[in-house]
Amino acid sequence: MAKPKRGDVLDLTIDDLAFGGEGVGRVQGYVLFVRGGVPGDRVRARVVEARSRFGRAVVESIETPSLDRVEAPCAYFGRCGGCRLQHLSYAAQLGFKEKQVRDCLERIGGLGEFDLRPILAAPEPYGYRNKMEFTIVRGADAPEIGLHQADRYDVVLDIERCHLQSDTMNALLAELRAQARARGLSVYDQDSGAGLLRFATVREGRRTGEAMVNIVAAAPDVETLAPVAEGLRARVPALASVVLNVNAKKASVAVGTEEHLLLGRDHIRESLGGLTFQVSASSFFQTNTVQAERLFAVVEAACELSGTETVMDLYSGTGAISLLLARRSRWVYGIEVSTAAVDDALRNARENGIENCTFLPGEVRHVLPTLMRDGVRADVVVADPPRAGFHPKALNALAALRPTRLVYVSCNPSTLARDVGDLVRQGYRLDWVEPVDMFPQTPHIEAVALLRLVS
Ligand SMILES: C[S@@+](CC[C@H](N)C(=O)[O-])C[C@H]1O[C@@H](n2cnc3c(N)ncnc32)[C@H](O)[C@@H]1O
Repeated sequence: MAKPKRGDVLDLTIDDLAFGGEGVGRVQGYVLFVRGGVPGDRVRARVVEARSRFGRAVVESIETPSLDRVEAPCAYFGRCGGCRLQHLSYAAQLGFKEKQVRDCLERIGGLGEFDLRPILAAPEPYGYRNKMEFTIVRGADAPEIGLHQADRYDVVLDIERCHLQSDTMNALLAELRAQARARGLSVYDQDSGAGLLRFATVREGRRTGEAMVNIVAAAPDVETLAPVAEGLRARVPALASVVLNVNAKKASVAVGTEEHLLLGRDHIRESLGGLTFQVSASSFFQTNTVQAERLFAVVEAACELSGTETVMDLYSGTGAISLLLARRSRWVYGIEVSTAAVDDALRNARENGIENCTFLPGEVRHVLPTLMRDGVRADVVVADPPRAGFHPKALNALAALRPTRLVYVSCNPSTLARDVGDLVRQGYRLDWVEPVDMFPQTPHIEAVALLRLVS
C-alpha cells in the first residue's frame, strides 16, 4: 500500500502511545499519530496530515475498544488542552509513563544497567492541583473564564468545573464568572488594548485550606475589583487572599508588574514535609502538594544524609528541597536564576527557623564554578532543572565538583537520559530511577535518578 494521503480513512490498530499522549498506529511501517487512540484500540481514523516520515490522524470511530480505555469524566475532554489521558485507565497511564522513562534512558542515554523502580502512583488521580490558571475572554454576550482548547491558543473553553482542582477552587471559579457577569465587567482586548479582565489564578493550600484568587487585569482598578473580592469571600469563607496583578502590556502573560491587595493577606500558607511555606501570587510552588511531598521523600532517602554533609540544590526554585534537606545536613547551597524565587526561599527559611542554607541567585553554569573557585565543595548534589535539563557548561562544572551522590529530579525523560548518559561517561554509575506521577491525566513525566561516583 502506498503512503497514506491526507483525507484517507484507514483501519488501524493502536500499538503505542507517543510522548504527548497520542496513540500510535502504523501502515506498513509508516507511523501515524492518532489523537484519541489508546493502545489496544482498533479504530477507523482519518489522516489529517501526511509528512514524508510520519503523519497525523483523528479517530472517526472506535471499532474495538482497548481494555485500557475508560470513560473520561470531564465534559471538556478531547477539546481542552489540559488533560490528554483521561480516556486511559490510571493503571495504563502509569505503565505508559514507566515505559517512556525506560525507553529514553536506553535509547537516548545508552543506559542498560540500572534499576527502574515501579512508578510512584498518585493517591488522588483527580482534584490534585493546588493551582490553576484560567484565561478570561469576551464571550458572545458575557465574560467567559476557562482553559485553552488543545492546539488552539486563540480559543478558550468556558470551563464550569475542572476535575483537576478541588470543589473549593471550582466554587471560586464559578463565583468569579458570576461576579464578572453580574457586574458587567469588561474583558481586555489585545487588538484595541481596551477592557479590564485578563486572567485569574486560583490557589488552595491543600494542607491548610487557605485559598487565593489572583486577578490579572489591564489596569489598577481596585475600586471596581474590591467588591468582586468581597463577593468571592461571601461564597468561599476560606478565601484568605485576593490580589490584583496589573499587566497593561500586550504580552499575554498572567504575570503583573504591580500588585494590589484586594482582600486578606498577600499570600497563603501551605505545609509540606513538616515545613510551612508562604505562597504569594507570583511564587512558584509545586502544584501537587501531596505528591510533591512523596517526591521529596524519595529525594531525601536517596541523599542518605547523616547530618555532616554539604549539599548543593541546583535549580532550587523557592527552596523546598533545600529546606527539607537542611534538617539533616551541615549546610545547603541553593542556586536559582529567579531572584523572586530566591527571595521566597530566604523568607521560607526564616519563617521555618532554618539557618544552615545559603541561596544564591544566578545561572548554575555561572554560579557553580564561582562557588568552586571559592573552595566550596559538596558531598551530595540534588538537581531539579527545567525541561531543557543541564546547560553543557553547568554539567561540566557538576562533573568537576565530583559529589559522591547526585540526585537528579527531572520533568523530562529525554533530557534526563541525555544528561545521565554524559555523567556516566564522566565517572558516575546510574543506580536507580524512580518515576513519580505528579500529573495524572496528563502525559507529563517526573522521575528521580540516583547516580554514584565510581571513579
Ligand atoms: C523544576 S523547577 C525547580 C523547583 C524547585 N525544586 C522547587 O521545588 O521550588 C526549575 C527551576 O530552575 C530555575 N532555572 C531555570 N534555568 C536556570 C538556570 N540556568 N540556572 C539556575 N536556575 C534556573 C527555574 O527558575 C525554576 O525555579
